[in-house]
Amino acid sequence: MDFENVLIEQHTNLAIVTVNRPKKLNALNTQTIKELHTAFKRLDENTEIKVIIVTGSGEKAFVAGADIKEFSDFTVEEGTELARKGQELLFDFVQNLGTPVIAAVNGFALGGGLELAMAAHFRVASSNAKMGLPEVSLGVIPGYGGTQRLSQLVGKGKAMEMIMTANMISAEEAKDWGLVNYVVEQIDLLPLCKKLAGKITNNSSVAIAAAIKSVNANYTNCVNGYSVEIENFGLSFGTNDFKEGTTAFLEKRKPNFE
Ligand code: HXC
Repeated sequence: MDFENVLIEQHTNLAIVTVNRPKKLNALNTQTIKELHTAFKRLDENTEIKVIIVTGSGEKAFVAGADIKEFSDFTVEEGTELARKGQELLFDFVQNLGTPVIAAVNGFALGGGLELAMAAHFRVASSNAKMGLPEVSLGVIPGYGGTQRLSQLVGKGKAMEMIMTANMISAEEAKDWGLVNYVVEQIDLLPLCKKLAGKITNNSSVAIAAAIKSVNANYTNCVNGYSVEIENFGLSFGTNDFKEGTTAFLEKRKPNFE
């Protein structure tokens, strides 16, 4: 498969996966999600690769979310399928990879973008990064595991606040809240991720895969939470607020929710 929207670089036993739609701030459309799935699958199957770094193209965004234009006219069924398929192909898939995945958050990580960063095993951010789950401002809810993983990482109260206000938080706040492990200048972001990757590659890959599985076991048993999220994400597509929220974004105006 030739990739349109994903770049892969290999440096000995490290791979860098870059989401590459900079003109759309690397928004995740269906094609990009499929390509990311294939990229992660291939790298996980490649025994030379010991660590994967995922980042966004350009200096402005990691990933600004799911592609709003693509889903703005979806029905309830299509919305449900979007969330279900995306969780299966990318978000659950990355979380459960035996190869460690570090998210290098180099700018906006919003909605599906923050959800991708949270599906990675840990996160490092550049100082310009901004993170949030703005879905309710569009009349939908997070649908790629965000309601579950954000609560796991920052606790229920902070997750509720971020989701309800749709506010973006700074990289420093994200570090204080435990959402990212380090904050560095953008120029130092990949070097720091590579340094951390280097430490990981000194250790046993077999043991690391077993550790990932064990850490995840405590979180993936809450399968019901992910299903409830998918169901409610899909149901949002039947509301007037969803139509108003997505139309307002595409028309570059503020939504007027009744
Ligand atoms: C589609 C997007 C996009 C997105 C940005 N773009 N984010 N297109 N989907 N999520 C496009 C813009 O339309 C614009 O295209 C170009 O990228 C540059 O963006 P601007 O808005 O002009 O940039 P700026 O003014 O700097 O604002 C940056 C921004 C803003 C604050 C990040 O783009 C923004 O609010 N984006 C949407 C963020 C969001 O709501 N994400 C959550 C999506 S819902 P043109 O063609 O006009 O140049 C989601 C659901 C996940 O993620 C669950 C699914 C199951």
